[in-house]
Order: sequence, then structure tokens, then C-alpha cells
Amino acid sequence: MTQESQKFVVRTFGCQMNEHDSERISGLLSTEGMTAVDDDTEADVVVLNTCCIRENADNKLYGTLGHLKTWKAQREGRQIVVAGCLSQKDRDGVRGRAPWVDVVLGTHNVHRTADLVREARVIGPITEIFDEAVVDDHVLFPSALPVRRETTWNAWVTIQIGCDNTCAYCIVPAVRGREISRPIDQILDEVAHLAATGVTEVTLLGQNVNSYGRDLALAERRETGSGSARPLFARLLREVGAVPGIRRVRYTSPHPKDMRTDVLEAMAGTTAVCEHLHYPLQSGSDRVLALMHRGYTADRYLERLTEARRLMPDLAVTTDIIVGFPGETEDDFVRTLEVAAEADFDSTYTFIFSPREGTEAATMVEHFVDPAIVADRFERLRIVVERTALRRHEARVGRLEEVVVEGPSKRDPGLVSGRTRHNKLIHFASTEPMRPGTYATVEVIRAAPHFLGGRLVEVLAEALHKVRIPVASL
Ligand code: SAH
Ligand code: SF4
Ligand code: F3S
Repeated sequence: MTQESQKFVVRTFGCQMNEHDSERISGLLSTEGMTAVDDDTEADVVVLNTCCIRENADNKLYGTLGHLKTWKAQREGRQIVVAGCLSQKDRDGVRGRAPWVDVVLGTHNVHRTADLVREARVIGPITEIFDEAVVDDHVLFPSALPVRRETTWNAWVTIQIGCDNTCAYCIVPAVRGREISRPIDQILDEVAHLAATGVTEVTLLGQNVNSYGRDLALAERRETGSGSARPLFARLLREVGAVPGIRRVRYTSPHPKDMRTDVLEAMAGTTAVCEHLHYPLQSGSDRVLALMHRGYTADRYLERLTEARRLMPDLAVTTDIIVGFPGETEDDFVRTLEVAAEADFDSTYTFIFSPREGTEAATMVEHFVDPAIVADRFERLRIVVERTALRRHEARVGRLEEVVVEGPSKRDPGLVSGRTRHNKLIHFASTEPMRPGTYATVEVIRAAPHFLGGRLVEVLAEALHKVRIPVASL
């Protein structure tokens, strides 16, 4: 079979960066003439783009690879590719546990995917993992490669790769490398290019976005002997927000220790930047925050949040919290409950601590918290957050929200689903079919902890696209 007639599936296991890498993998394989399909049964190549942030991600991968062994045996010429953070971490271990895998690649050589698939067909199984990012603009930043997106109206834009922080629980710095910012002009060019193809919403991606540009400023100072070494994120927000055609700018994730007033002012002063802050707390206990090396206290976190709300009174705030960090006592956890209640979150992503080999927290074995206690804490936190979320949602009933249409509702195909500027899911009725990417005004008529119900008031702007857009390349 020729490469051109081949079909592929990419399955994504991780975060937004991992999803964005999947779009690049899809883009690269499509550029080779291969066709994306939804189902393994049709596919000749299955790519698993893995994550290793928590242990269950590992278990999920090796479970899936077990099924794929049978899938591969069912037809001659089928190939299995394992990419992403878990292969970066496990390296030769992936093939050790699943020798039937054809290609193993890591986080720093996504640009090689299509070449490796082609080469493996000729020479047999290949493992290729780079130790660090190749400092070449064409491959360093994902968006300089072809990208095949599933949606027409929104897009991720990488502004920074890697992470220089040392959070005691986190494997990301080990698998994504050191922090490198993408030049501002390159980001603005990409956003302008996306806007020209009909994208109206962009999400800026980095592990620690508010330190964006510090390395660029330092390099400039070294070269010119002048200038400050301050991060450039506030400037970036303003400039991205000014790109014609961009109606919504989002970003993830900021780090509370680096959250500065200039960023909050840029959010408040740039119409396109959405009134939503994802602001990872991790723990409400100062003792645990110190053990985690987060670099802030609960008071400092709350103080920044108060400032954010002073500048943006109608701000939605979401967070990440880890329950059961080694040594977390009942008192520590009660502090988390208190801070969560005071922060008045719209929603939280709550994670159970998972030891990752190679991280500091994984060595604190004698302080691991009993799983039954952790499960109980997880549930208590869920109740507190659902209560604040529901109250905040109920307060929106009767208000008009700008909504971007995503498609038919998964809960009820008779309804349309969309996202408010707060990034809340809203389901509403429409007599006309509505294209994904259409902007509309919707009145909120119903509240639940995890979504809103609404009534269409008017269409503001029709989506430009009728169908999925093909592969785009800068
Ligand atoms: N850079 C981002 C987070 C990336 S990881 C930030 O600093 O906010 C996403 C989330 O996964 C983290 O915020 C944390 O809550 C969770 N997480 C990371 N490592 C974990 C671990 N070992 N166990 C449980 N949760 C973890
Ligand atoms: Fe991990 Fe901390 Fe870096 Fe986020 S800031 S990626 S939690 S080390
Ligand atoms: Fe993301 Fe998982 Fe890697 S959270 S950065 S895909 S370890």
C-alpha cells in the first residue's frame, strides 16, 4: 500500500499542549497524503500521544497497547506509534513493555513523526528520543509546522515551551525541558494568519505563561547591555488582543507566584481577553505549599485574586488542586477547604496526588497519605466547590451572555452547545441549525454546577466556515 492511501488515527491522552502536538502530528501525516479517520478499524496507523502527569495515565497507555497488539495482528502493514510525554519519560521502556510498537518518539521531535513512520516501514521498529528541544525556529515551536485542527473558530498558540519551576510533585520539567519563549513577532504572525483563516478565538499556551519573555528580555540585555529583564506577557496579551478578527483571547496556565498587576491590567484593559482566569492553587496550606515549592502563600494567592476581581469585577476563576500531597494533615486540608470557599471558584480540577518517579515528592514515601483518607478529602472538596459553582451560576440567571456555538449538545442533540466568555458550557434551543463558530447572545435561564441552560436572543456573527478547514501551514 502506498503512503498516500493510508489512513491514521491520533489519540490524545494529555493536556492542551499534548492536544496541540496531536494537531501537528495530524498535520504532518496529512501533508504526506495520509487521511485522518475516527476509528481504529479503518486505520493503518494508530498514534498514541501520551501523558505521564499521573500514574493512571501510564496504566491507560499500557492497557491500550495491549488491545492494539491484537489490532495490529489483524492486518498486514499496520503500525503503532507512541509519542508524547510518557515516551519521553520511559524511553526504551515503552518498547521493553510493548515490543510490537513500531515507532517511539518524544516531546522534542514531533516534527519527525512522518519521517519515522515512513522509515519504520522500511527498516523496522525505531525509537528516537531527543534529550532537549532543537533550537531551530522551524521545529522548536509547534505552530511553525503544519497543523490539522478539529475546529474552525478556535486555535491553540504556543507561546512558550518547557518549565523552569521545581514543583516537588511535577514531572513536566523532566519531559518538556527548560523554559523557552517564542519570539513575540512569530506569535503575532501566527495569530494574524489564524485570524485570516477565520479563527476568532485563540488560547495562548505555556506551563508558566506569566514568565513569558523573561528569557527573551535577558538575551536582549546581554546583547545590547541595556533594557529590563521583565516578562513580556502583559504586552503580548495586549498585542494579541489587537489582532483584527480576534474576538477572544484565553491563556493557560499562569503561576500565582509570578502573577503581576501589569498582567491583570492588560487583561482588564484588552476587550478581547476573556474574563476568565485559570489560577492553580494546588493547596490552601502554607506548609504544604512550601513543601511543594510553589513560592506563594495562601494569603498572597487570595490577595492577587482580590486585585484581579477589583480590576475585573465579573471574573470567572477556575483552579487546580492536589489532594493528598505527602504529609498533608487534616488541618492542612481544612485550610484548602477554607481557601477554596473564600476564593469562590467557578470550578476546580481536583487531582489525587500521584507519585512520579524522579520527582522530589515521590521520595517522601513515609509521608504518603492513606488512600481512604484522600478519597474522603476529595469528596469533601467536591461538595464545597460545587456549592460555590452553583451559587455563582445561579447568580447569572437572567443575564445576557455572548456565546460561541460549538455544535449539537451532547446531553440533548435537540439543543445547541456553546461557550460563554467565562468558558462555561451553555445549552440552548435554536429553531435554526447553527454553525460551529457562530457568535450569539443567549439569555441564561437555568443553572447547574457544571453548565448553564439558556435561550437564544440573537445571532451576533455567523461563522465563516461551513466545513472543517484543511491542514494549515504558515
Ligand atoms: N503548569 C501548570 C500545570 C501543569 S500540570 C501549572 O503550574 O499550573 C496540570 C495539573 O496537574 C497541575 O496543576 C497539578 O494540579 C496536577 N498535577 C501535576 N502533577 C501531579 C501529580 N504528581 N499528582 C497529582 N496531580 C498532579
Ligand atoms: Fe509543573 Fe510546577 Fe512547572 Fe506547572 S509550574 S509545569 S506544576 S513544575
Ligand atoms: Fe501535558 Fe501530560 Fe505532558 S499534562 S505536558 S501531556 S505530562
